[in-house]
Amino acid sequence: MCGIIGVTGTPDACEVLLAGLELLEYRGYDSAGIVVADPEAGTLWRARAAERAGSIQRLRDRLDEVPATPGAGVGHTRWATHGPPTDANAHPHIDCTGRVAIVHNGIIENYRDLAARLDATGHKRTSATDTEVLAHLIEDEVEAGASLGEAVRRCLRAVRGDFAIAAVHAAEPDLLVAARRTSPLIVGKTETVGVVASDVAAALATTRELYALDDDQVAEVRPGAIVVYDLDGVRVEPTRIEVAWGVRRAMKGGYPDFMSKEIHEQPQAVRDTLLGRIGSDGSTEIEELALSDEELRAVRRLVFVACGSSYHAGLVARQAIERWAGVAAEAEVASEFRYRQPVLDDGTLVVVISQSGETVDTLHAMREARRRGARVVALTNVVDSVMSREADGVLYTRAGPEIGVASTKCHLAQLAMLETFALHLARVRGALAGDELAGIAGALLSLPDALQATLARADEFAAVAERFAEVEDFYFLGRRTGFPVALEGALKLKELAYVRAEAYPAGEMKHGPISLIEPGAVVVVIATRSSLWEKVMGNVEEMRARGASVVAVADEGDDETAGLVDAVLEVPSVIELCSPVVNVVPLQSFAYTVARARGNDVDRPRNLAKVVTVE
Ligand code: F6R
Repeated sequence: MCGIIGVTGTPDACEVLLAGLELLEYRGYDSAGIVVADPEAGTLWRARAAERAGSIQRLRDRLDEVPATPGAGVGHTRWATHGPPTDANAHPHIDCTGRVAIVHNGIIENYRDLAARLDATGHKRTSATDTEVLAHLIEDEVEAGASLGEAVRRCLRAVRGDFAIAAVHAAEPDLLVAARRTSPLIVGKTETVGVVASDVAAALATTRELYALDDDQVAEVRPGAIVVYDLDGVRVEPTRIEVAWGVRRAMKGGYPDFMSKEIHEQPQAVRDTLLGRIGSDGSTEIEELALSDEELRAVRRLVFVACGSSYHAGLVARQAIERWAGVAAEAEVASEFRYRQPVLDDGTLVVVISQSGETVDTLHAMREARRRGARVVALTNVVDSVMSREADGVLYTRAGPEIGVASTKCHLAQLAMLETFALHLARVRGALAGDELAGIAGALLSLPDALQATLARADEFAAVAERFAEVEDFYFLGRRTGFPVALEGALKLKELAYVRAEAYPAGEMKHGPISLIEPGAVVVVIATRSSLWEKVMGNVEEMRARGASVVAVADEGDDETAGLVDAVLEVPSVIELCSPVVNVVPLQSFAYTVARARGNDVDRPRNLAKVVTVE
């Protein structure tokens, strides 16, 4: 949450900061702000605005005021944690002298104690944020004679919590100081410019020479030069990041919004993710996994740990692992897993699933799992993300950057990668016969075409969704592989359309929730053919008997299902364990259409941020 950008060594500093903020807005859009040093005046110039989607434009409106030859600058786009989204709480925050400015992503957990100390020594704080204490702490260190870099190192020794920060000081106008603990931050340079950013996409416009910082490392970034220290001031070498894609992949490419672009990129995301990993004969190869066949044979239990849509992918993976590989598997929400003292041992393989590789709940769950002796594999879409660097092995999806806040192509790529992993495990452990492996491999390899055929029906999905755009209450039902799809469909509708949408295993309705069903209720059911289809349709009858309208995700040409419901979202048939990859697509379209019909911003739904770096 919150996006950070910083640049030094260019006369276009403000333009670079604003362009970076536009790319980082997915991380939070409650407010935005920039600061640049004015070397001639020996001061800082700051602009801030809290106008949700309009904040960056308000900063642009002030570009005629910026210093003629700016020095280093930092910018921030905020997802509010401490203090409401107002101009005063917008970053960058400055100290009492107006000479130190800082931007921050994360939470300073002991900020109340620090603030009390600062208040007692006469500092004047002007915001309700936890961040501002850092500006005053740095101010004290600089007053005591420290350089900006040393001041940041000293002040971070006193700080508890997760953070990424970038700071400038009017007295060292070419210098950017950047540091991180848990929250992400990268640094980069060309021969003449230095850059700091929360993610690769925002830095790529400036350079491809990028470096990752580890926890508690502090970078001093000057035009054309980066030097990194640990908190004790010992020099360390940062890790180079290899980036396989260009900044254009993080642009809309002619679509009205990122979400529709990313929905249409799904066949490619799945194709790229499967590429070179599965052969049509059932052979598998996952290079980065870093676990030998022998180690995979020794696994007695798998635990998938994740949040939100990634957790839903884990619920599907668990079924594929049990059925194909015959290994006990569970899926758990990361924020719960971490605190319940899970029993793990060296026979347990924990797979954390996080498209960003940064979600703090999942990251802490991963660290807890390692502390308890489990091997950990991270499934992520971001090469060199914090999780991929800390895990014993990685499973990379290859979906490219996902900018829309609601996950679409990354979720599908996760499903494809997890099923590939399940097949790999089944093969290595000898759990399936050769023809069974080949059958599943064929089904996985046919998914990109099935997705293309599904997307060809986008107009039909939109037409069905428009009929239900005014409805305020939805129920999503499914059984077995249909249940995680129901959860995902309901989540998409909630987060994008802001309507209530509850998901249940279809067989669970009669144990309570059915009392909510009355005429006017709308039930969306996953009713593609499976061994449980008859039972699902029995549950549909129970809903219709109480007056509900039913929309079914059904197989193409399945007239029997179509005849039993009010509307169908037709998809090509694929084997049951692969069906979530296809079945979730009409539900993404459904949520997209209802959200747009209600005038909502599908790329930036209210109260959300793409990357959740607070607990
Ligand atoms: C929903 C959505 C979120 C994320 C969740 C985990 O559309 O995108 O529920 O899935 O915040 O994010 P990652 O996968 O980055 O850990």
